[in-house]
Amino acid sequence: MYKMFILPVLSALSQGDAEKAHRLAIWGMRRLQKSPGILKLVAEWSGADGAPRPTTVWGITFPNRIGLAAGFDKHAEVIPFLQALGFGFLELGTVLPRPQRGDDRPRVFRLAKHKAIINRMGFNSDGAEVVEKRLAKVRPKIKIPIGISVGKMKETPNEKAAKDYGMAAAILHAYGDYLAANASSPNTPELRKLLTKEFLAPFVHSVVLGEASRALSFKQKVRPVLIKVSPLPDSTEKEGEETIATCVEEGASGIIIGNTTLGRPVPPSKKASESGGFSGPQTFKNTVKFLQMVRRRYPLFPVIAVGGVNSAERMRVLLGEGANLVQVYTGFIYEGPGLIRELRVI
Ligand code: FNR
Repeated sequence: MYKMFILPVLSALSQGDAEKAHRLAIWGMRRLQKSPGILKLVAEWSGADGAPRPTTVWGITFPNRIGLAAGFDKHAEVIPFLQALGFGFLELGTVLPRPQRGDDRPRVFRLAKHKAIINRMGFNSDGAEVVEKRLAKVRPKIKIPIGISVGKMKETPNEKAAKDYGMAAAILHAYGDYLAANASSPNTPELRKLLTKEFLAPFVHSVVLGEASRALSFKQKVRPVLIKVSPLPDSTEKEGEETIATCVEEGASGIIIGNTTLGRPVPPSKKASESGGFSGPQTFKNTVKFLQMVRRRYPLFPVIAVGGVNSAERMRVLLGEGANLVQVYTGFIYEGPGLIRELRVI
């Protein structure tokens, strides 16, 4: 039903504009989630209310190990619907301390033949205060863990980046179960420099320390802080290794590997030459490679693996290689909710 009907209709209604299609889908989910009856039906279909396959990381119990990657529900609009689809956790955002428009449109492109996406959203965000109001309303109804992805404003220089991350985290302190510092979006100029020797250690140190200090001030549990890093081959293996070593040394609680790639692992075409970050099944082997590299050195450091997952078999590979949790974005767009129904029982 999703691939035969919903995906083509959304695409036709939005005249091939991928961002419009996404906004239409969000609009539909917002309407549907107003009805408890519909949410119940969806949860019955997906199995979300059925027996969990729990796993514990950082002392947090996840009902299953498939999560939604950051960027799908950037502004925390459709959490109840996504919960009903059976996700074991959701990473919201990336949220910025203040509202930001992002890049000019069009800025999302679907390469349907390759089941891939190129995006240069450029951190469009409603801003942490708006997201906070939405979360305040909805959080009591949500049973699954929520990760909050935070980032920096375009104009903030890297020397001051940690302040932006800290400010967004502070505004949203009451809601997330973990915090993800996104230092790897390819669409904010210079952002990835945060992962280099010059910036990484002080950056991670400040974000981790800020979180601990806020938890004391607000008398709350300290949330795990994860760093979202660039995938291979955007970072070389050596750079990747150094990044992880610094994250471990500076007290991060885990890493998310990885973000979209600047590479184009598909044949050249007009759409493939759009600038931005590429995601799709073609990136999977690099996700596995990066994970193996981390596991060789750090058998126990928590890892969320994301990039190229579109089947049960692929999720099994990542879990077999030692991923604690797995996330999906592009696979969810092309395969639909049936994929989550399959992955939640692995
Ligand atoms: C993303 N991704 C992303 N990541 C992030 O940390 N913050 C964000 O705001 C976004 N925004 C975003 C928008 C769009 C349109 C896409 C396609 C992706 C990256 C995403 O979370 C994930 O890391 C990659 O897409 C790789 O996973 P998949 O898509 O192969 O499952």
